[in-house]
Parts: sequence; structure tokens; C-alpha cells
Amino acid sequence: MKHISILSLLALLLLPACGGKADSPRQETLLTQWEFSRDSIAWEAVTVPHDWAITGPFDRSNDLQEVQVTQNFETSVTAHTGRTGGLPYMGKGWYRTRFDVADYREGRDAVTLLFDGAMSQARVRVNGHFVIEWPLGYNSFHADVTGFLHPDGKDNLLEVSLENLPNSSRWYPGAGLYRNVHLIHTHAVHVPVWGTYVTTPEVSDKEATVSMQIDIEEVEADLVRVRTKIFDPQGNVVAVADTPSSERVQQQFKVVNPQRWSPETPSLYRAVTQLYDDEVVLDEYETRFGIRTLELVPEKGFYLNGELRKIQGVCNHHDLGPLGAAVNKAALRHQLALLKEMGCDAIRTSHNMPAPELVELCDEMGFMMMVEAFDEWDIAKCDNGYHLYFDDWAEKDMVNMIRHFRNNPSVIMWGIGNEVPTQCADEGYKVAAFLQDICHREDPTRLVTAGMDRADCVVRNGFAQLLDVVGFNYRTYRYTEAYDILPQKLLLGSETASTVSSRGVYKLPAEPKSGAVYPDNQSSAYDVESCWWSNVPDIDFAMMDDYPWTIGQFVWTGFDYLGEPTPYDVDAWPSHSSYFGIFDLASLPKDRYWLYRSQWRKDVPTLHLLPHWTWPGRKGERIPVFCYTSYPMAELFVNGVSYGVKRFETGKTANSGVNDAANTIETMPRYRLMWPDVEYAPGRIEVVAYDESGREQAREAICTAGEPARIELSADRDVLDADGLDLAYVTVRIVDKDGNLCPVADNRVRFEVSGAGAFRACANGDAACLEPFQHPEMPAFSGQLTAIVQAADKPGTVRLTALSDGLESAVISLRVK
Ligand code: GAL
Repeated sequence: MKHISILSLLALLLLPACGGKADSPRQETLLTQWEFSRDSIAWEAVTVPHDWAITGPFDRSNDLQEVQVTQNFETSVTAHTGRTGGLPYMGKGWYRTRFDVADYREGRDAVTLLFDGAMSQARVRVNGHFVIEWPLGYNSFHADVTGFLHPDGKDNLLEVSLENLPNSSRWYPGAGLYRNVHLIHTHAVHVPVWGTYVTTPEVSDKEATVSMQIDIEEVEADLVRVRTKIFDPQGNVVAVADTPSSERVQQQFKVVNPQRWSPETPSLYRAVTQLYDDEVVLDEYETRFGIRTLELVPEKGFYLNGELRKIQGVCNHHDLGPLGAAVNKAALRHQLALLKEMGCDAIRTSHNMPAPELVELCDEMGFMMMVEAFDEWDIAKCDNGYHLYFDDWAEKDMVNMIRHFRNNPSVIMWGIGNEVPTQCADEGYKVAAFLQDICHREDPTRLVTAGMDRADCVVRNGFAQLLDVVGFNYRTYRYTEAYDILPQKLLLGSETASTVSSRGVYKLPAEPKSGAVYPDNQSSAYDVESCWWSNVPDIDFAMMDDYPWTIGQFVWTGFDYLGEPTPYDVDAWPSHSSYFGIFDLASLPKDRYWLYRSQWRKDVPTLHLLPHWTWPGRKGERIPVFCYTSYPMAELFVNGVSYGVKRFETGKTANSGVNDAANTIETMPRYRLMWPDVEYAPGRIEVVAYDESGREQAREAICTAGEPARIELSADRDVLDADGLDLAYVTVRIVDKDGNLCPVADNRVRFEVSGAGAFRACANGDAACLEPFQHPEMPAFSGQLTAIVQAADKPGTVRLTALSDGLESAVISLRVK
């Protein structure tokens, strides 16, 4: 545990400025090496973050929920197969580790354990003493364990027991110590976890006021002083405060010409705070923050830094597909990089507290966040869900969530609940008020919303009226009615679309359908299928385009996730992961990616053609061809013959008061160029995009593929960090001899990894594939799959080889440094 942290180094560098000897014992260490047991008898060594259930095996009987989902208006009890991913997350698990606190001085020091999240019902013991329990698996919690340590600080036993009840979740929650555990060693006089609150009460182009509230433990006010230096994004000191201490200190700073945080300019300031008396620095730590303004103007919309914008967001679950729930920063970065490329600028952490790594990355990469607390309040969605704990724990959970993330500029809004049944209870508004008041008390700088799906109740029972921001899940056809009735005069699509599709699987005819199911357990990649409660993306685009008072949307979902395999959720095993993602479980884009990109990216053009053009035995049949593009018009050619120029139709507004196919059919031509009757002939389809004056701008072609001949590999990055955690996502394509993707290929591919890294997982995006992600072999799905390679903790080269019987193999080498 002995190491010099960056902060200690910084303390040394800053020494002369403080006039004291740096003696801050603050050391923060991750506890990563543990033993794990499912029965507290047989133990195995594991590395935390750890998800005990992701290795499977998948089984229909795992948490098979015989339930009636009243939220979906189901009228009888049925077997909801795969609802929580078909993975063995239920039951008990035990973790134990031993830790030393280096240079521990009994009486002088304090030691805190911080859990970023433990799934679930954690009970923590140190050296045999009960320390803390925390039922909700998604929240962070901490405890001062100083009093439980051995006097020399050495060889302390830390034990954590966990239990997941069956029927406690609507999706795969993961299992175990799936987020980091921090050991924080400080002086007894220190700023506790989340003890700092930074706000920017006044911001103009010329100057910003930065205000810091700092809580201090064990402080003797007349001895200790508090000095904070503010560093701008370039690392220059731009403001300093030095004040006497008390249990709560307020410091104010003026920052001239503030660099605003926004998704496009994610500028981050740092505050480095020291507690010191004239001899020594007792504590030193850093708080990162941003300077930005948020404003909601009735009827007009949402303003960030004074600029009107619509939120282009996605909802994401916390699982990382084949990696399960075990948090990995490189995997989160990979997801965000893909979303950024699509033009996404916001994330809703549906439906729970996120990993801190995600919030940090959103700060750095530029994503606004709606951080959400709960999927359930006092009324059950699942028999063993959070309602069992709500009365005793809701306030504590809210406080931890808010104090944890209130300094992160990416967080623009708190979400207090998702589609809670309480929204229709007579006095449900009182529960909403209770939670919203906690937000306002803990963080008056942000607005509060809730994802409401029962427009019928909430506009009349006072629930929607009291929220800062009206958030509607789906129900676009009730937006205008709600707008007319509700006083806020603004509406957020807190959850939109829930379009279902399987990458590369095109169902004919390409017609809008609700709840469509097929014998192959796949949904159409034409992006025309949704659920009875949801819609295709086009409707949401139209609502955003046509009504200034819509402030944006969070699409359900950015990425496919484990569990909730709607529409294959009722006795439809083996489906066990979602179909809602813009990206599939292998992080590969479905066609919808380009549809969103065509609307959301203003800075670069998009031109995408679908479907594939390999339809053996279908010569002469009609195959619809769609083009998702940001160009105003395009012409389709099939084997050189024009099918005519299409341009976007201006169309009527989407709100017809009903959620029906006619509405969808009328809206789609506003956002897609479509040639419904193209006669299939093997060869080549090509789309040529034109500008308004008819000048050619770009072309995109797809050719009929021959027999699978070889494997092609491409990685999302060439160089990995030698930290033992970094990941490369390698896309594996089965192509013919000319390099055309074989769009229905399902060849089995085997992976071998050598050198400075290891095979971590693979996935093919098929929601009905039961092969384990950790086995280095899997069939392709629609011609593609993804292999994930993990860097070693030493530099070198890592090589991934992909082999398949009858195909030419492929190798890719990546540098690890
Ligand atoms: C919503 C819900 C989400 C997910 C989605 C699927 O009603 O908030 O958690 O279940 O439906 O369409």
C-alpha cells in the first residue's frame, strides 16, 4: 500500500506557498485483491471489480419470473424468461481481504472505506466488527473504520457479505463487488468523503464566482487554516483563498474570463484544498468542477451557457454487455466515444446511480447527464424490489447520490424515479415532493425530473405539476395535451423510441409493427418495429423539430443490455438481452445509428444505405431500400439503373393524438429516404447524395456478397495503456474474397491472444445466443462479432488471432505502453 500519490507529490510542490511542512497522510488505495465464495466454505481469488454472475451459464430457470407486469398492462401471470438476463445473480456471496494502512498512527489518523456500489444488501465487517450495511446495490456508501483497526494498522480483515433476492429486478443487475472499493487514509483532521460542495452562483463571460463549502472533521478552529487554489484547464493558478477553519468553511473565488463547460468544450477546473496549521499540511485533496449555466425558459426551451439546445441523449443501463456489471473505465470510454461520434450529447443513467467512472468520463468527454435514483419507490414493480427499503433508505440513498455527484458539471438534472407506480397513487405527489425537496435541499443548483409514463394520471393528480421538469416516457401523442395543461410549459422526452431491432436482420415487408415476433427471435433491422407503448425514432425527431417547448430526448437505449428481451420476454427463451439498443451487445452499430447521426451531427455528413444486398433465391422480389442521410436528396441506382431521386418530405407534425401505424408511415419520409419497391437482382446498389442544387456530394454502395472466404479484423485503437485494465474492441467481419461483408454469415470464430495482453470476452449481438462471453470462441451474427482484448500491466505487443474452419484467418497486433 505504500506509494506516493499524485496528491502527495503535489503537496510537496506546493509546500513553499503554504509555509508549512507537508505531512498530509492522505492516501487513497483501491482494494482489488480479494477472495470470493458462494457458500463461505470454498474460496477463490478474484480481482474487484468483480461480477460473479456474468460467467453464467445462461439458463432459463435463473430468476425465471412468473409475474404479471402491471406496468405493461399485462392481464395475467406469465413466465418472463430472460428478464434478468438468465444469469445466476441471485443468492448470497461473500468477499474477504486483508489490508495494511501504511504509516498508520493510532490517535492521529482516520481511515474510511468507500464502496462505489455493491450488489446488493451489503454488510461490511472489519476485524469481526459490524461496520455498515447498504441495501441498494447501485449506490455508493462509506464508513469511518478507524475504531475497528488493529493498533498498528496492519493485517486488518475486511469482510463483505451480499445477497440478491430473486424477483428483485427488471433487468440484469450484476452481482458482487462490481464497483471499486477505496481505502482512504487521512489525518483525523480532514475533509470527509463528499465533504466539499462547489457552486458557481454567478457566471458571465467576464467573470465567474466560484463558491466552495468545505466540511471538516475533528477540527480545532483556532489552529487550522484552509487554503484552496483554483487551477484553470491549462493548469494555471487563477484564484486563491486562505481562511480560518471551522466545521463548515465557505470560500469564494473570482475567476476571470471563465472557460465554460459544455459537451463541445468540456473545460474542467480543479480546486486543490489544503488544511494546515503553521507547521504541517494535515490534509490535501482535489475537487474537479466546471463553470456553466443552466436555464429553463417556459415555452422557449433549455439553455446551456445561454445557448438554446435540445438534449440529444440516450438512456443506458449500467452493464457493459459481455463484461457484465463489473465496471471498467476503458469499456465506458469506448461506449461514450461511439455515442459522441453519433452526435449524442447526454446520458440518462437509467434507472440508478452510476459508477463514478462514468460521471468522470462524461465531465471529460462532454456529455450532459441526468442522474437517476430509483426505478421503484414505495409501491412494488418487483416483489423483492426497492419498495422493501424505500421508507427507511430513500432519503439516505438520495443524499449519497447527490453529495457524490453535485460537483460534476456533466450532471445537469436529478431524476427521482422512473415510471414509478406511485405516480398514479392519490397521494403519490407527496412522495415526489419528498424526494424533490431532498434534491433542492442538498443541491439547489439543479433541476429535478421524473420519467412519467402515465400521462393519464400525472397531468391530473398533481404529480407532474410539482416537478421542476416534466419528463414523459413515450406517449408522444400526449405531449401537446400535457403542454396545454401543465404550468411548466416545457417537456422533456425522458425516455423515447424503444424501437426494437436486431443488427443485420431485415424482415419483409418493411412495415411499421408493434410487438412483432418471429420464429428466429429477432426483430427487423429496418427500424420500423417498436412496442405498443413506444415508437420509431422519426416520431421523436418530429416532436423535437415541431415544438419549441420540447427540450430534448433520451432514447431507450444507446446500447443493448442484459435482460429485458422485449418483445421476446414472455416464454420466449433463449432471448435474454435487449433489442432496444442503437448499438448491439457487441457494441456494433445497428442501422439506427446512422438515422440518429443524420439528425444529430450537424458538423459532418452522414450517408448510409440499407439493407444488405445478398438475398439468395429472391431474384425479382421487391426489397425496400432506405437511406439515412444528412444530405437533402439522393438517387438510388441498382446495377447502374436509376430508381429515381428522393428528397425529404416536409410532412405534417407527428402528434396526431394516437400512437398508430398511420402516424408512423406519414412521419418516416421526413427523416428517411425510401424506395419501397426495388426489384432484387444480385449485383450492386448505390446511393448518390446531392446538395440542394443537385450537385453530387457523396456515394455509398453495397454489393452482393459471395461465399465467406476470410476474416477481417479492425480495432478501435492501436495503442493501449499497460495498466492491466485497458481494453481494445476488435471488430471481426466475415467477408468474401473481394472483401464484401457476408451479411448472414454465422461461421464460428476462435480467438488466440499472445504477448502483452489477454482475451477478455467476445460477443456477437445476438440476443438469443447462449454461448458464454468468456469462452474465446463464438459464431458470427449477421457476419460480425466483437472480441475484447485486455492489456497487460507491462508494455509490449499484444496479438489477437482469429481463426475459423474453411476461412483465411486474420491477426491484429496492438501496442501496449
Ligand atoms: C420503459 C422503462 C424502461 C424499459 C423500457 C422498455 O417503460 O422505463 O426501463 O423497460 O420501457 O421499452
